[in-house]
Amino acid sequence: MITVKQLTKTYGAHKAVDNVSFSVQKGDIVGFLGPNGAGKSTTLRVLTCYHPATSGTATVAGYDVLTQSMEVRRRIGYLPESNPLYPEMRVREYLDFRGKLRGMSRGDRAAAISRVTEACWLGEFIQRPIGQLSKGMKQRVGLADALLHDPQVLILDEPTIGLDPNQIRKTRQLIGDLAKRHTIILSSHILPEVEAICERLIIIAGGKIRASGSIGEVRNRIVGASRLIAEIRGPVQQVQDGVRKIAGVKSVDVHAADGWNRLHIGSDEGRDVREEIAALAARSNWGLRELRLEVGSLEEFFTQITAKAAGAEAAE
Ligand SMILES: Nc1ncnc2c1ncn2[C@@H]1O[C@H](COP(=O)(O)OP(=O)(O)O)[C@@H](O)[C@H]1O
Ligand SMILES: [Mg+2]
Repeated sequence: MITVKQLTKTYGAHKAVDNVSFSVQKGDIVGFLGPNGAGKSTTLRVLTCYHPATSGTATVAGYDVLTQSMEVRRRIGYLPESNPLYPEMRVREYLDFRGKLRGMSRGDRAAAISRVTEACWLGEFIQRPIGQLSKGMKQRVGLADALLHDPQVLILDEPTIGLDPNQIRKTRQLIGDLAKRHTIILSSHILPEVEAICERLIIIAGGKIRASGSIGEVRNRIVGASRLIAEIRGPVQQVQDGVRKIAGVKSVDVHAADGWNRLHIGSDEGRDVREEIAALAARSNWGLRELRLEVGSLEEFFTQITAKAAGAEAAE
């Protein structure tokens, strides 16, 4: 549904988005995750025909965002990061105005407004001036606007930023509902947000994609990079050599203290050697008091990736 190829966007000398490629399948709900300044909004603005890429291409439903922008706009609903609304307008009036801008007939507008009012739970607020609404309600008006022309694709830039926990819960629920009918990309700088809503995630930092895949796949990558901790009592050199010989073991660091050796063991991706280590200790008559797989959390992984990106940027 969405294909982005080698997309780069520079502002002056600054590369905000650097050679980014990804695709989104029909019906997917994809989280675009990254710290502030990662290049999320810039990428989404290219996809929504807001500004052109410096190089690379992007298509939505097969249409090029640069050369076929009218076709793309027809298929996309966009909730920008700073959701601009007219505070003096009433909700219905605003949606009607937006429908006119889209060239919808009076009848189409009336039907669309009742559809989005229901989809975004706006019923009792439809006659209220926008200026009187809470931040969460305003966000729902922005969503209703994005849905007015019943687009196939929804692009939501930090849809829950600035909302209180209750509003966040409601908005997430609403997005979950919308995901049944639309392909969605939503950006966020908060991992639990993306985990709660999305099936796939794309982690971006410093303008580059650092990881992508289903939440499970990204988790597996983390397990692959996990470390094993063991505490074994025995002659330090023999313990170290013995463990190193186990198939799949790549590295062994030993810290010896009061008769015990504390080992940090690195192994091949996805390989769990705990059983072999226990067998080795038993065979050699060594004491074994700890044997633990240290799996980093997705949170930790995200922090590491984004810290690495920040470091690389500082070094440039
Ligand atoms: N209009 C602009 N002019 C100059 N620099 C910009 C502009 N918009 C964004 N940037 C810069 O591009 C980088 C990426 O910004 P942005 O895409 O807004 O990141 P994110 O949405 O992930 O926080 C940042 O370093 C930001 O300062
Ligand atoms: Mg942004």
